[in-house]
Order: sequence, then structure tokens, then C-alpha cells
Amino acid sequence: MSVKPKIMTVYGTRPEAIKVAPVVSALQNDGRFESVVVSTGQHKEMLEQVNKRFGITPNHDMALMKPGQSLNELVSRAIQGLDPIIDEEKPDVIISQGDTSTAMVAALAGFHKGVQVVHLEAGLRTGDILSPFPEEANRKIIGQLASLHLAPTNESRENLRRENFRSKDIVVTGNTVIDALLTASEWDVHFEDPRLEELRNSNEKLVLVTTHRRENLDAMKEIGGAVQDLAKSYPDHIFALPLHLNPKVREAVLPEVEDLPNVIITDPLPYDQFTALMSRAYLVLTDSGGVQEEAPSLGKPVLVMRENTERPEAVVAGTVKLVGTDRDRIVAEARNLLDQDAAYQAMANAVNPYGDGKAAARAVAAIAELLGVGERIGEFEPELDGK
Ligand code: UD1
Ligand code: UDP
Repeated sequence: MSVKPKIMTVYGTRPEAIKVAPVVSALQNDGRFESVVVSTGQHKEMLEQVNKRFGITPNHDMALMKPGQSLNELVSRAIQGLDPIIDEEKPDVIISQGDTSTAMVAALAGFHKGVQVVHLEAGLRTGDILSPFPEEANRKIIGQLASLHLAPTNESRENLRRENFRSKDIVVTGNTVIDALLTASEWDVHFEDPRLEELRNSNEKLVLVTTHRRENLDAMKEIGGAVQDLAKSYPDHIFALPLHLNPKVREAVLPEVEDLPNVIITDPLPYDQFTALMSRAYLVLTDSGGVQEEAPSLGKPVLVMRENTERPEAVVAGTVKLVGTDRDRIVAEARNLLDQDAAYQAMANAVNPYGDGKAAARAVAAIAELLGVGERIGEFEPELDGK
């Protein structure tokens, strides 16, 4: 009997965990492969929440996270830690997801060892190497090292084509974040925080806010200030801020928003609670990549507190607007949606430019083809009517 090809999925942060979960599950249920899961532990508590909810137990946990870790320190410890694991496991393929330090290191460590790299969520670009920082660079580096590019959308495929990657090495899968979101929509959710549980039975408008981007750290006081202004202007609305655990985020945001009666500040929420809260929200303010992908499919208008985005599809569809990080601009754009029903309705359409829930199946089929044990299946095509 021939030995099954071994697929090593490497991840380390909350969004990677959410986005690899459907692929890990598909690989584990596919008799053609042996699946090995490696966590660098770039994140700790925020990663454990996702592992627990999706029932993923990494075969190796490098437990790297240190408070206030620098990029170079993290990257050097991650590449050193991965080396012996690759030697031990001898995978045929390494899956690297997205654009984090972990993803970049996983691709580089695999490449150095002659292991084929599969890039999940390939081809997203802003065109500005400094934004998002360092993620745009990470994603480009991974692209250079990958044998197979699993692009979530046609736009991301086109970005790769413009950089002269071969068409035959690119498969448009849709984004696995939508697979995860559809799974989450079937879970029974209970909010641990009684203030959030109470929102289920109330009619108050809910504005959900998240922020964490490194290049926004200097502007985060402005973001917190904008939430403060909005909370004071709309005392009947509720503003929920599940705060990222990065102490720099907390230092900047908390002084602006604590002690306001209609602002609910929580620790990062488990994925099921966060997505349920997003479904309950009237409006979303964020600088997150994943939230930009999820909220449009729930029909929630999103104001993205960044100058640019590598996810232009929902901007084009009209449910996401880039508003930057200036306090007054954020307030003005949010006010427009909270006050003008026509403006709100124009943005509140459920669109699915990012996926249809079958991205993991397409990813696994494409990997099977790469390894000569199967064939790829039909690519993701968004529904053009937006439904
Ligand atoms: C990382 C990714 C970013 C991604 C984000 C998702 C890089 C360079 N950045 O940024 O692309 O959007 O994750 O959230 O890979 N911390 C904890 N507990 C946790 C997680 C983080 O305490 O569970 C704190 C630690 O002090 C840590 C700091 O947050 O040092 C920053 O974490 P890090 O992974 O370096 O950067 P993020 O800003 O989270
Ligand atoms: N998320 C979560 N709990 C929270 C905030 C976000 O589970 O309190 C999820 C969210 O649904 C999305 C992902 O985390 O899937 C986004 O992670 P983050 O914003 O940290 O990173 P990014 O997507 O910007 O890389």
C-alpha cells in the first residue's frame, strides 16, 4: 500500500485559525491524505478560542507568543522552531494562509526544505508595500515561494496574473472565511457577557467596532475618539468593542471610551459570539481583513478605517466604504449612515463576493491535483445579482 501524501497546515493567529479550520476539517475527512496541524502560537488566548470552538488540536504547538513581540523577534523564533518540525514530519505540502508573520515563515521554512508550498488566500494586493504593514510584503513573499496559489476571487487571480504567475498554478476557490461563517451560523450561541446577551431582546441600534492594525496604532487614539464622539451623540445606540489583546491597542483606545454608559468593552469574543454579534449589528466599523469579508455577506454596512484595502470586491459592490482614520471623518461617515435611511439602505445589501461556502472543498481538490491524487473542481464565481 502506498503512503498517503502528508499535508502540513501551519497557522498562528486568530484569523488564520478561522480560515484554515474548514480546510483542516476537509483534509481530516479525506482518506487520500494524512493531515498534520502546526500552530506557531503567534497568538495565544485569541488562538485558543478558535481552536476550541472548531475542535482543532494542533499536532505541534510552538507556543511562541510573547507580550509586545517585535516582528523580527517573532519571525526568527518561528523559523527556528519550524525547522525541526518539518524535519520530523517530512510533509509533501505546507499550507500557508494569508499574510501574517507565521504565514510568511511557514512558506519560507518549507521552501528552504524543498517542500511544496500552497498559499491559501493568495493574490490580495493593495499595491502599497507599507499598507497593510507588514502583511502586503508577507503576501507577496509567500506568492514567490508557492507552487499553488489558491486565490479567493477573480480579482486576486488577476493580481497574480499581472505579476506573471502562471494561470495553471492559480485556482479561484472563494475565501474559506465564508465556509467558517456558514458553519458558525448553525451553532447555538450564548453570550457570556450579560450586556451582550441582553441585546438579543432589545431594539437599540448596535454599532460593532474592531481595530488592531499595526499601521493604525498611531491613529488608534483617533479611532477611540471617534467612538467616544459617536457614543455621546447617540446615547440610545450601543457601541460594542471586543478589544484585541495587543496592549498598544488597549492603551490607545481604552481611555477614550471607558466609562461611557452605552459602550460595551469586552475581551476578544469567541468566534461564535463575535459572528452572532455581527449579525445583530446595525453598522460595523473595523480595520480587520476578515470582518470586511464576513459582514457584507450578513448584509451589514462596513466602514473600513483604513486608507486602502486589498479586498476591493465589497467596496465595488457598495457595502464597504473606506473612511481612513481621521476622527472627524469616521464620525461624519457613521453619522451619515445612522441618520440617513436612504444612505444606510444603499449599503445594507447582502453580497457574497468572497465565497459560497465551498472554498475548502476547492482547495483540497486543487491540492489533490498538485499531488497527482485527484483533480481540481469548478472555480468560485460570485453571484452577480448580489443575492
Ligand atoms: C497579527 C498579524 C496581523 C493580523 C492579526 C490578527 C502579523 C505581522 N500580524 O497582528 O496580520 O491581522 O494578527 O489579529 O503577523 N496578544 C495577546 N494574546 C493573543 C494575541 C495577541 O496578548 O492571543 C498581544 C501580545 O502582546 C502580542 C501582541 O498582542 O505580542 C501582538 O500580537 P502579534 O501577533 O505580534 O500582532 P497582531 O497585531 O495581533
Ligand atoms: N473575530 C472574533 N472575535 C473578535 C473579533 C474578531 O472571532 O472579538 C474574528 C472575526 O470574525 C474574523 C477574524 O476574527 O473572522 C478577524 O481577525 P482579526 O480582525 O484579528 O484579523 P484580520 O482579519 O484583520 O487579519
